[in-house]
Amino acid sequence: MNNKANDRGNTTTGTSLPVSDRQRQVEEELVRTVLASFQGTPDPRLKELMQTLVRHLHAFIREVRLTEVEWQHAIHFLTSAGHITTDRRQEFVLLSDVLGASMQTINVNHGAATGATEATVVGPFFVDGSPEIPIGGDLAAGAPGQPCWVEGTVTDTDGNPVPGARLEVWEADEEGLYDVQYDDDHTAGRAHLFTDDHGGYAFWCLTPTPYPIPHDGPVGLLLEATGRSPMRASHLHFMATAPGLRTLVTHIFVEGDELLATDAVFGVRESLVLRFERHPAGTPIPDGRDLPGQSWSGVRFDFVLAPRPR
Ligand code: BEZ
Ligand code: FE
Repeated sequence: MNNKANDRGNTTTGTSLPVSDRQRQVEEELVRTVLASFQGTPDPRLKELMQTLVRHLHAFIREVRLTEVEWQHAIHFLTSAGHITTDRRQEFVLLSDVLGASMQTINVNHGAATGATEATVVGPFFVDGSPEIPIGGDLAAGAPGQPCWVEGTVTDTDGNPVPGARLEVWEADEEGLYDVQYDDDHTAGRAHLFTDDHGGYAFWCLTPTPYPIPHDGPVGLLLEATGRSPMRASHLHFMATAPGLRTLVTHIFVEGDELLATDAVFGVRESLVLRFERHPAGTPIPDGRDLPGQSWSGVRFDFVLAPRPR
């Protein structure tokens, strides 16, 4: 805690309010009592989590000298987040995302410089049971946007190709919406495919465009009150799975996107920012697809999957 003793031997807090020695003793006594209440937790990990949470939570309350009105606001905020959460809307994941808690959890669990592709947030729009497309298929399924050809390989960290790896891909359309954000039940902008015998893959999708995270709920109000933008940098989501290898959840981002530095959920990693080549209408198309009068983009990305942790 950011406390300093003042001239009268009192302690000043992070907000410079004086706290007497007696007051400090009362507050510290409560922290000790609450910590002791978790002392008998049978599961040692749960005990560590709860006691550390209590220490940090009480340090926060004491450092900012939390007022009762502020505490009520916080409870109201969490209650609203609960009320707006449904099967299709997860406000607590959004909250974790905009606080950087999701990315920090990923940092802690995926060591830097392992040689594997870096992970980033899953976000709230992954849906189980996407349609399968063949290599070279189109996952846009009629969603509006510029066609984009994506190709590459999946290997392990020793450079061995991974045949049969499952790649789940999902993205927003050029209106900035995922299929599940429309009122009908259509599926578009998402699919899965499997790598070939050489670990290769290729598919058509839409050139990613920027869009806002859902901001019509309490998390949106928080962003507004703090002068933050809800916009995410343009990206394409992936989940790569293969037997014996660690599941990778990641995105690829578009080089040159102005939002890369201010992504609302802190999800951008330099290694995931790629050059999407822009091809004017009439440029020959990789698989001979007919795109009369339409421009398209192309990008290559090679995934590297880490061994599964023991
Ligand atoms: C997304 O990219 O789909 C996303 C990620 C975090 C919060 C909201 C949306
Ligand atoms: Fe997204």
